[in-house]
Amino acid sequence: MKNRNAYIGVFDSGAGGLTVVKHIEEMMPNENILYFGDTAHLPYGTKSEKQIKEFATNDVAFLNGFELKSLVIACNTADSVARETLIKEFDLPIYGVIDPAARKAAEVSENGKIGIMATTATVRSDAYAKRIRHYRKDAEVHSLACPLLVPLVENRRYKKEDIVVSTILQEYLDQLTVHGIDTLVLGCTHYPLLMDAVQSLVPDMKVISSSKEAVLSLKKSLEMTGQLNDESGSERRFYVSDDADAFRANAEVFLNEKLTREVIQVSV
Ligand code: DGL
Repeated sequence: MKNRNAYIGVFDSGAGGLTVVKHIEEMMPNENILYFGDTAHLPYGTKSEKQIKEFATNDVAFLNGFELKSLVIACNTADSVARETLIKEFDLPIYGVIDPAARKAAEVSENGKIGIMATTATVRSDAYAKRIRHYRKDAEVHSLACPLLVPLVENRRYKKEDIVVSTILQEYLDQLTVHGIDTLVLGCTHYPLLMDAVQSLVPDMKVISSSKEAVLSLKKSLEMTGQLNDESGSERRFYVSDDADAFRANAEVFLNEKLTREVIQVSV
């Protein structure tokens, strides 16, 4: 039995995984969180499978130096490509973003036609389609790589009123709605920020945030195993592999508030 006060370790290629941290703070405010953003190697979504596995292994090796009660792969790309490698390599309860979002999509879709927006590497892995079909054999999954969206969000362009945002999104959405999908998974750490913009373009679509589903599922699991932290006074620690100030500035985009905690740069 793990110490329930131990950290929930969360990692991502950069600051995008803070969309997961934000949900942990909202849904489980007592939890102690240890975050690692591999900013030196960002983005993962355009990299090869071999590189992503190598980076993810190093990320978890770093976090594993602390006392963790669970590990969350906040990065959709790392979860879709490196999950099996991490499970083999580390003796940790490993949670991710793909399975909870896939499960939710399989549950809520009425016609079984599901769209996935994700990075190039996530789409190439076919992880979402495999997981969705695990829950719903008849599902028809259409995955689309949306490489323009991460840079857009990183540049703080995600508001629905922004014509550049809606034009790019419309172009991507057209390629998915043509298949008659009724459910869409935002399969990337950055895309939850685009939720309002997406929803305003496809108001009837069931839109799923992988970051939110991941934390709902983590909470359920910690509850079931009696692992929720019941002590208040939660601790947050942030580590990155490149410039700490740049991360702090970027963090504000994903947290929607200033990151006041210390950010420490380490080499992994
Ligand atoms: N964190 C990545 C993901 O969720 C997006 C950014 C990147 O490409 O590294 O897929």
